[in-house]
Amino acid sequence: MRIYNIIQKKRDGRELTTDEINFFINGYTKGEIPDYQISALLMAIYLKKMNKRETVDLTNAVVNSGETVDLSLIEGIKVDKHSTGGVGDKVTLALGPMVAACGLPFAKMSGRGLGHTGGTLDKLESIKGLRTEFSKEEFISIVNRIKICICSQTANITPADKKLYALRDVTATVDNISLIASSVMSKKLASGSNAIVLDVKVGSGAFMKDLEDAFVLAREMVDIGNSVGRDTVAIISNMDEPLGYAIGNSIEVKEAIESLRGNGPKDFVELCLTLGSMLLVLGKKAQSMELGREMLTEVINNGQAYNKLLEFVEAQGGDVEYIKNTELLPKASNIVEVLSDCEGYIKSIDAEEIGKCALALGAGRETKESSIDLAAGIILNKKVDDKVNKGDVLAYLHYNDRNKAKNVDVQLKNAIRIGDKNSGQKKLIFGIVDANGLKKM
Ligand code: URA
Repeated sequence: MRIYNIIQKKRDGRELTTDEINFFINGYTKGEIPDYQISALLMAIYLKKMNKRETVDLTNAVVNSGETVDLSLIEGIKVDKHSTGGVGDKVTLALGPMVAACGLPFAKMSGRGLGHTGGTLDKLESIKGLRTEFSKEEFISIVNRIKICICSQTANITPADKKLYALRDVTATVDNISLIASSVMSKKLASGSNAIVLDVKVGSGAFMKDLEDAFVLAREMVDIGNSVGRDTVAIISNMDEPLGYAIGNSIEVKEAIESLRGNGPKDFVELCLTLGSMLLVLGKKAQSMELGREMLTEVINNGQAYNKLLEFVEAQGGDVEYIKNTELLPKASNIVEVLSDCEGYIKSIDAEEIGKCALALGAGRETKESSIDLAAGIILNKKVDDKVNKGDVLAYLHYNDRNKAKNVDVQLKNAIRIGDKNSGQKKLIFGIVDANGLKKM
């Protein structure tokens, strides 16, 4: 078999066999096929697409490129949650303690971000002392004891995805449905959970800008999961405006803590309740999403979800005083208001542009090597459909480095459109895709 022929076949729009897919993934993982040939193949896949069979084969080949995690020593059904990525997405930080407080094991391997803000692990580092590196034995023992642990990937899982993703990132081949679906699902399948809830984002701040594409991506991922015996469901959620008010690292941690205390932003809490109730159903802790929602609301109201967060922070070596008194979390030396020039109603808040503003202030990584300013970011003061008067605060910029903040106020104002009417049509959840089909909402 020759990689040249595989590139040529896909370039001409033909279907690759299972053996051909295994061949290029194996060869690339071992360093036997160079980046330039895989770049050409990725572009051919991007332009000519893969069918469902090829996508499932690609996913399995990527899973088999590394180790897989065995979670069988954790008692109960293990359910994982994954977001395709959005701005202000701090869901894991609140959702984990919420479902763990309902008795569902939340054994999560998370990553760092190469996005507008850090990933879950970066955000958690705002809490002094909190460790995310654990041996497999420690990880399992913490989950069995307190039902929650969030750690970095210890095992060498999906090495092919790491190489492919880095290459896609620099060859304009990220936003292809087969490539995204196989990348996300290979990591989920290798991480060993029994069931998977996917939060597929759609809108200006998401990979999928179009609702129909988001449904197709969701369908593809759900089919991959179910084809290998993992109960998989996708929730399609809105990423046209940032989730909640905070976009950054320590400020997102603070918002998640407030949410567990019962003071969370409406959209953020609603998404946590929707994803959480689905997790409880798949984990057989609730018989329906309605009952799951009741359980989650109860653990927020009676303080058990917040107490679970304290337990989790303590078990991972973090200082719980940072949770009890969020003033201790990293704070920016400058907090600057951005004011509105006109009055009306907020028509749109471009999530991607706001993400870029947060990145400019230092909240995210431009390259793998760059460091993150945990205190930097943006706190919105208005959301879509809110009334705004001239001179009202639209948002607060949090930063330490003045050089980074130049013109961010202008960029932020340009990302917020103000109109004269309240649309009254804001939607958070667009639908649920499961093995039986699609339920639009
Ligand atoms: N997230 C992933 O893990 N992979 C992709 O390809 C896109 C989003």
